[in-house]
Amino acid sequence: MEPMIEFRDFSFKYRAQKEPTLRDINLTIMPGEKVLIVGPSGSGKSTLAHCVNGLVPFSYPGEMTGSLTVGGKNPADLGLFGLSKIVGTVLQDTDGQFIGLTVAEDIAFALENDRVPQEEMFARVDEVAELVDVKKLLGNAPRELSGGQKQRVSMGGVMVDDVDILLFDEPLANLDPATGKRAIDLIDQIQKKKGATILIIEHRLEDALYRDVDRIIVVGEGRIVADTSPDELLPADILKRQGIREPLYITAIKHAGAQISAQDHPMHLETMELDRYAQKVREWFAQAPQKQPKPDAPSALKVEELYFSYVEGRPHPPAYPLRYQKGGDGEHRRQKRGGQVHSFQPDLRFLPAHQGNHSLKRGGYLAPVH
Ligand SMILES: Nc1ncnc2c1ncn2[C@@H]1O[C@H](COP(=O)(O)OP(=O)(O)OP(=O)(O)O)[C@@H](O)[C@H]1O
Ligand SMILES: [Mg+2]
Repeated sequence: MEPMIEFRDFSFKYRAQKEPTLRDINLTIMPGEKVLIVGPSGSGKSTLAHCVNGLVPFSYPGEMTGSLTVGGKNPADLGLFGLSKIVGTVLQDTDGQFIGLTVAEDIAFALENDRVPQEEMFARVDEVAELVDVKKLLGNAPRELSGGQKQRVSMGGVMVDDVDILLFDEPLANLDPATGKRAIDLIDQIQKKKGATILIIEHRLEDALYRDVDRIIVVGEGRIVADTSPDELLPADILKRQGIREPLYITAIKHAGAQISAQDHPMHLETMELDRYAQKVREWFAQAPQKQPKPDAPSALKVEELYFSYVEGRPHPPAYPLRYQKGGDGEHRRQKRGGQVHSFQPDLRFLPAHQGNHSLKRGGYLAPVH
């Protein structure tokens, strides 16, 4: 079988940059594969995706060396328009992507462009709307929709054209955890139904792994530092070295001193073989020094308890970034978000909302441990 995407000794330097943003990229993605791309901010993930959809070099020029084929062809020969027939891109900032006055028009755009006969167009819009669950919204204006609904509409818009490759750049960025899970589920269904090749760029690894992926590519400083299955990657320390947050249960098990084995399928907590680890985590938890909360502080669930409840498989309120900001690219957004607390900082503790700040609705919030 011919690869769907193939980078060979590929490097790219933006015209505006002194140093190459991507270096020595060797990457082969086969048809129908589902690949997750992770890496720190500024490592070159979006640039890699832009090479596939043609924004690099057609919109963002620069110097390339090595070779790249998309759908077996050289992107330079295809042009942006030719590439748009093969690659559909859903950006996190969906607002800028809407073209139609209504959801239906927006989804139909690519078909109108291709002069697909009206009857066929209606049928296909209907089918796609069903798949992304926006049938009731077809008459609405895109601006009237919620973040999750907008995202489903833009997924519909790229899927209607039957592209081979679907590329999602931070699809979870503006979504709350529950809506994010639905988005990951939807991407999974699309892959299964359409057999498309899927690339997902996402730094919320634990959420992105809510449904199986075939491979995870870790990008660091413009290079591929890992290219392996989730079950192989999670036990290693590559993610930590790259500053990427591991799933909480993985951190907890490692923290308790246990060596995770790929054979236990650590990709999902629900299906992971936990028996070998539970005892170790229990022991560690029993020995861990119990910090006394300050007398005036609300009685707080310590982070160890959080970990414990995870490993034991008991649900607890999600501990996520408190607000979801719209707009900006990944880097930009993270800068804006810099002052806020994140659940992956181990020196944070979880405060249930009813004891603390009532304005936070997600069941609680995270506060630094003093
Ligand atoms: N259009 C551009 N022109 C010049 N340099 C750019 C351009 N886009 C990105 N860069 C630079 O390339 C580097 C990688 O950026 P890129 O957007 O690919 O990172 P990323 O891994 O997607 O980061 P994030 O997680 O923040 O989205 C950065 O140093 C950035 O400044
Ligand atoms: Mg990016």
